[in-house]
Amino acid sequence: MKFFIDTADVGEIREASELGLLDGVTTNPSLLSQQSGDPIEILREITKIVDGPVSAEVTATDHEGMVREGLALRKIAENIVVKVPMTLEGIKAIRSLSSENVPTNCTLIFSSAQALMAAKAGATFASPFVGRLDDISQDGMELIAQCVRIYDNYDFATEVLVASVRHPIHLQQAALMGAHVATMPAKVIGQLAKHPLTDIGLERFLADWEKVKNRN
Ligand code: E4P
Repeated sequence: MKFFIDTADVGEIREASELGLLDGVTTNPSLLSQQSGDPIEILREITKIVDGPVSAEVTATDHEGMVREGLALRKIAENIVVKVPMTLEGIKAIRSLSSENVPTNCTLIFSSAQALMAAKAGATFASPFVGRLDDISQDGMELIAQCVRIYDNYDFATEVLVASVRHPIHLQQAALMGAHVATMPAKVIGQLAKHPLTDIGLERFLADWEKVKNRN
């Protein structure tokens, strides 16, 4: 399973990449708005830190505008993936971009019918948002199971990119379902390594080792 970080914070991306487990980055207009400076320059810096795909989202709402913006974003670096919202105009844009071999990430997916459309349009990634579904009392993880199954049924090359991940259990369940990618905030990446029994166990090992060291 690929691990992406969901942030536009260069410091967080640098720190996560030092782990050696980071396969890519997803950004969105809201995440970029939280950073100061020119978004294009921020994206350029991110593409230099991470070799893998870096999603940069278009803000046009008509397909010609999306394609134009997408092609401009691709000029930032080779590893830019054009993030396009799941609308009918977005589907047309994904179709055009993928026919020109431009990698795309179809974002804001909340149903398996939307995920199916994204795959048929040739999206490289499809991003179902689990946390935002959970927020309205729908089962976000059930959507992941459906997307994985549908893509499997028809051998789609599109990868299920689990987005809006809020905690490690989302990641564990997504991995069990066979989702290809999960994008997580830095906080969740940190939580993945944590277990209270690990901390207690390590504390005990180190305390016992102190006793050995003090033997003579
Ligand atoms: C994915 O690409 C989105 O940027 C992101 O996962 C949205 O997450 P949120 O629901 O926590 O804003």
